[in-house]
Amino acid sequence: MSSLTAIKPETINSLADAIFPAMAMLAGMKLDVFTPLKNGPLSTGEIAAEIGVPPRQLGPLLYALVEANLLAVENDQFCNTDEAARFLVKSAPGYLGARHLSLSRRWSGLIKTADSIKSDAPQARLDFSTMPSEELENFYAGSYAESCAAGRVLVERYDFSAYRKLVDVAGGSGGLSVGVTESCPGIQATVVDLPSTIPLVRKSLDAAGASDRVNTHAANVVDGPFPGGYDVAVMKSIVQVLSADHARSALRHVNQSLEPGGDLFILGTILDDSRLAPSYAVKSNLNYLNIYDEGRAYTEGEYRDWLEEAGFVFSERVVVEDGTSIIKALKPI
Ligand SMILES: C[S@@+](CC[C@H](N)C(=O)[O-])C[C@H]1O[C@@H](n2cnc3c(N)ncnc32)[C@H](O)[C@@H]1O
Repeated sequence: MSSLTAIKPETINSLADAIFPAMAMLAGMKLDVFTPLKNGPLSTGEIAAEIGVPPRQLGPLLYALVEANLLAVENDQFCNTDEAARFLVKSAPGYLGARHLSLSRRWSGLIKTADSIKSDAPQARLDFSTMPSEELENFYAGSYAESCAAGRVLVERYDFSAYRKLVDVAGGSGGLSVGVTESCPGIQATVVDLPSTIPLVRKSLDAAGASDRVNTHAANVVDGPFPGGYDVAVMKSIVQVLSADHARSALRHVNQSLEPGGDLFILGTILDDSRLAPSYAVKSNLNYLNIYDEGRAYTEGEYRDWLEEAGFVFSERVVVEDGTSIIKALKPI
């Protein structure tokens, strides 16, 4: 009995509280409270006037953002923390504030987890081929900065100097291709994505001023191969969208589009064979079960088997800082 009373609901209470800072961040991004603070501290009333909201309920959010370590306050004057100033001010390079679009979608799906399991169907289904164009545009706007950063990380980690033609398979917003070609001007990239998404991909590339170095091609990579001649292929956040059978088909078709000796980089949430790590991949599977019929974070072992079956030689898997992984594989000569 005494050992039972010694057990406190600490984990339960801390999990129940964990939502508040995340929700404060979301509201702060959505209202863009951070940009007006780029020139120095402001009061609640001044911030409210800058972002065009009534001041009455803004105060509680600002103090919650202090608690969340995104703002600091002194004498009722708020300022950005270093991190908020670096990533949440609209003019900052690598601005992440637009992520509220993808986070809102993800979190409203996660609330349905029990229902998705019970009904054996995703209750916040994400179908890229039928998604209304405005929703898809928001999805790409919300993921662009992250994908661009992933492109930069890729070329920092691996030597891309010998590559000339890159295919960004299911490249979505084109962010990754923009990130890679910014750092490696000798590379011409092509974003391959579903026909319905291509006009939006082009729009995103135009907005980034990257249309001269990044082309687009409409294709369903599950259904068949696409025109080839590439010396490097990147597949970011696509395999986990697909069922295992579709993933295997996509890998076969990518192999056919690569020149012999070409390299493949797969980026995304990939599980250790234990299914217990990396933590981010374990958690992401909760998201996927709410949005994809069969997609999920697959294990390294599954990737190894599928890559071999598709004609690749597995080279390595590394887990990067954000908990996602990079697999490198080679199409032998
Ligand atoms: C989660 S998004 C990832 C986008 C991009 N790679 C990134 O990381 O930002 C998945 C992308 O895969 C595309 N996609 C899904 N199924 C596809 C298929 N069968 N063939 C080609 N593209 C596909 C979607 O249109 C969408 O752009």
